[in-house]
Amino acid sequence: MNLIKTPQVIVIASGKGGTGKSTVAINLSMALTERGKRVTLLDANLELPSIATLLNMSPAYTLTDLIEGRRSLHEITFSGPRGINFILGSTVTKPITNLSPAHHFGIVNAFNTIAGEVDILIVDTAPGINKSVFNFIRASQDILLVTNSEPTALASTNALINALHLDYNLQNFRILINTVSNRYEGRAVFEKLLKMNVHRTDLLLSYAGHVLDIKSARRAAIKGQALFDLYPKSEFAQDIRRLARAIDRWPVRDTPTGNIEFFMESLIKNT
Ligand SMILES: Nc1ncnc2c1ncn2[C@@H]1O[C@H](COP(=O)(O)OP(=O)(O)OP(=O)(O)O)[C@@H](O)[C@H]1O
Ligand SMILES: [Mg+2]
Repeated sequence: MNLIKTPQVIVIASGKGGTGKSTVAINLSMALTERGKRVTLLDANLELPSIATLLNMSPAYTLTDLIEGRRSLHEITFSGPRGINFILGSTVTKPITNLSPAHHFGIVNAFNTIAGEVDILIVDTAPGINKSVFNFIRASQDILLVTNSEPTALASTNALINALHLDYNLQNFRILINTVSNRYEGRAVFEKLLKMNVHRTDLLLSYAGHVLDIKSARRAAIKGQALFDLYPKSEFAQDIRRLARAIDRWPVRDTPTGNIEFFMESLIKNT
């Protein structure tokens, strides 16, 4: 009997770029550690990883070192602020062409070995409707789509939902409305998305909440510090805490695809 609890894998995605995925990924990871969770944050935005830059970290080794067989998973995992474990991307990536089956197995197995050390794996992805993102999404238990209130962002969120549904038959999507001016705006924007899908009985869209537009975001970025750390009492931090509390109530789906090994398979295949 397998007594190791499989980590919950939450992928953060968006149809359009710049809606706040990485910001949410970092600050949510912090709020989850505050709740006693052991969190690993994986920067799977392979085209343009930004977590290291946002937190002013300079990882000695990145995902590329793991995939190319130079370093082990433990060697590329860094403990950062609040004890979060970071697996960061390299800004200089190239396609992996000749991965041997043994090596492939080794990487997947490496993730298997850390499964017992992680409660939640947060995965930050690249924006848009592309195959590599699809594979990350497919391999996660929970899909958190981050959008803002702009019609174009909402339209691209809707396009992503529909593409994922058509191609992979995914049905459950959690929607976070970021950079709102008040909480009513969050609900109202979510309602608009529901209206776009009013006849779709095959989709389950859930409101994951809202996050306020915080004026100090630029300052935090320049300082290389997370907003949650700089302004722990801000309304922004409270919104992120509310999301972390809500995640505790999300039912754990035990789908065959929602496990860390499968997730790693997808990662390797699409690098
Ligand atoms: N709640 C917020 N309040 C104010 N500014 C925010 C908020 N969330 C994100 N931002 C700002 O919006 C910009 C984009 O954020 P971020 O890099 O997190 O987006 P992203 O979706 O990860 O982008 P990409 O698609 O390029 O990966 C940043 O300047 C960030 O500081
Ligand atoms: Mg990003």
